Amino acid sequence: MCGIIGYTGSSNALPKITKGLSVLEYRGYDSVGLAATTEEGIVTVKCRGRIGALEERLTALSLEGCTSGIGHTRWATHGGPSDRNAHPHQVGRVTLVHNGIIENYKEIKAEMSANGVEFLSETDTEAAAALIDACYAASGDPVAAILQATARMKGSYAFGVLFEDRPGEVFAIRQGSPLLLARGADGFYLASDLTALLPFTTEYRCLEEGELAHLSPDGAVLLRAGGEKIIPAWIRSTMTPESAQKGGFAHFMCKEMHEEPEAVRKSVSSRIREGLPDFSADGITVDFWRQITGVQIVACGSAMHAGLVGIDLLERVAGIPATCHIASEYRYHPPLAAEGTLVLVISQSGETADTLAALRYAKSVGLPTLAIVNAVETTIAREADRCVYTYAGPEIAVATTKGYCTQLSVLYMLAAAIGHGCGRLSDTDARALVRAVSEDAPAAMAEILSRREELCELARVLAPHDHVFYIGRGVDFAMSEEGALKLKEISYIHAEAYAAGELKHGTISLVEEGTPVIAIATERALYDKTESNVREVQSRGAHVILLCPADMARGEVSATDVVPLPHGSEAATLFAALATVQLLAYETAALRGCDIDRPRNLAKSVTVE
Ligand code: AGP
Repeated sequence: MCGIIGYTGSSNALPKITKGLSVLEYRGYDSVGLAATTEEGIVTVKCRGRIGALEERLTALSLEGCTSGIGHTRWATHGGPSDRNAHPHQVGRVTLVHNGIIENYKEIKAEMSANGVEFLSETDTEAAAALIDACYAASGDPVAAILQATARMKGSYAFGVLFEDRPGEVFAIRQGSPLLLARGADGFYLASDLTALLPFTTEYRCLEEGELAHLSPDGAVLLRAGGEKIIPAWIRSTMTPESAQKGGFAHFMCKEMHEEPEAVRKSVSSRIREGLPDFSADGITVDFWRQITGVQIVACGSAMHAGLVGIDLLERVAGIPATCHIASEYRYHPPLAAEGTLVLVISQSGETADTLAALRYAKSVGLPTLAIVNAVETTIAREADRCVYTYAGPEIAVATTKGYCTQLSVLYMLAAAIGHGCGRLSDTDARALVRAVSEDAPAAMAEILSRREELCELARVLAPHDHVFYIGRGVDFAMSEEGALKLKEISYIHAEAYAAGELKHGTISLVEEGTPVIAIATERALYDKTESNVREVQSRGAHVILLCPADMARGEVSATDVVPLPHGSEAATLFAALATVQLLAYETAALRGCDIDRPRNLAKSVTVE
C-alpha cells in the first residue's frame, strides 16, 4: 500500500532514506517524500511522481548534517497523487508519514479545524498529524501524545513521527499496518518491510499491534500495548540485499518467473518425508488433518485464484468439501461453517488488509485458522493459529508469479497430506502426487521458461488488442482467472476469464474477427469438451491460442496456434500452463511498453480495506 522508512544514528540519513524508498517503491509509487532533521529544524521535501523526482529536488537543496529522518512512498487513498497530498505531513511541531487509513479522519479534521488548524491536503494523514500535535501541545510528552491521539483513531496505521523539538529521535507505532524496526552498525531504522532494511542490516524486529517504538542514536526502546517498556530482541534475517535486486534481469517479474522452479522445490521439500506428504515440520500432525471436515479458503486477487484451484484439490484429492471466498466479502456474508471447518487464508505479503480482516473474523467466531504466507514474520503469518510458509523468497514485482505458483504447490501438498492422513489417498497415489509437484512441475515450468521466443511471437497476437478472453473448464477455468489477471494488471488489456462451457450463454456475442481467446485445456477428461468450445469461438472469427498437453496437440487441432505443454502429469501440465500465461502477459506488456514491475494504480501489498 505505502512504504515507510526511517533512520536515526551517526551517519547521513538522506542516502539511507532515499535508498530505502527506492526499494519500497513497489509498495506504492504515485508520490514520494522525506523529512530530515537539520540544525535549522525539520526540512520536508516531497512531490508527485517517483523517487527520481525527489532526488532531483534534494540535489537542488544540498541538505547537510541530517542524521535522522523519515520517508514515504504513496499509493493514494484520500486525495489524488499531488505534491500537497504526498507524505510527510507536518502540523505544528509534528511531522509524520503514514501507511493505512484513518476511518474517522473527517471528525478529527473538523475538530482540529475548529481549533484553528489550516489543512493543506485532502489526506486522512494530515488529520492524524494535527491530532498528535494537539496532544503534544497539551502534554509536552511525545509518547503520551502519540498514545492519546492514536487511541482516538479508528482504522489502520503505521506511523513514523518526528517532533520539531526532539532532534535525532524517531517515533513509530502500528495498528493494522506493518512496521519493522532494525538495528544497524550506525544507528536504528524503521521500515514497512524487510527488503528496505537489507541494504543496511539483517537484524530486525516486527512491531506488534499497538507497540510504540522510540528510536534515538543511542538505542531503541519499545512500549508494549500494555504499557511495559522493553529493549527489543533482534531477529537475524537469512535474506541478503541481492534478494531484493534484479540480478541482471530486465524486470523483477522476469527474475521471479525464472526463480519459480527452485521456489516450488523449496516450498515442498521440507514437507516430504520418505516420499510422502508430511507437515510435521510446520507443527501440523495427521491428527490435525483428521479433525477437518471442510475448508473455507479466503484470499484476494491471485491468492484467491490459487484458492480456486485449491477447491478442486481439496475435494478431489483430499475428499473434503471446500469453498473459496473473496476476503473483502467474507466477513460481511460469512458462509455457514459446520463443526470441523478450517479457514485457510492465503497471502503472499502476509499484510493484505482484507485477508487479515477475514482471518480475524474467523478467529473471533472460534474457527481454526491456517495461513499460507510467503513473507515471513508478517501479521497474517503471526496471527493465524498455524502458518505454512511458501519459500519463494522476496517478491518485488507487483504482479505475483512465484508467490502464486508456490501457493499452488503448497495447496497440492496440503491436499495430499489431508487425503493420505485420512486414509482417502493411498501411499502410491500420495507418492505420485508428491513427485508430480516436487519434480515434474518445476521441470515443466523450466521448460516453458526456456521457450520464451515462441511465447513472444504469440504475445504479438495479443499486444494490438484491447480485449482478450481466457477460457477453460475445471482447474483450467481457475487458471484462466489467473491468466486474465496477469494480462490485465501489467499490459492494461481488458481480459476476462470464462468457464469454457459458459461463454456461449451470452458473452460469445463479444467475439469478433481476430478476437484473441486463450484456451487452457490441461485436464485430459475435459479436453474434448473444451475443444468444442474452441470450435465455437473460432467459427466466429476468434484467434484461439490453445494450451494443452503436447500429446493431445498432435493431429488436427482446431486452434489457430497451439502451445504444447509438458505432459508428465496433469499437475505438471497445470504448472506449465501457469508459466505460459505468466510469460505471455509479461511479453505482451513488454511489447506495449508498460511499466511491468510498477503497473499504474497498483501496489504490491494492499494494506487498506
Ligand atoms: C496479483 O498479481 C496482484 N498483485 C494481487 O491480486 C495480489 O495477488 C492480491 O493483492 C493479494 O495479495 P497477497 O497475496 O499479498 O495477499
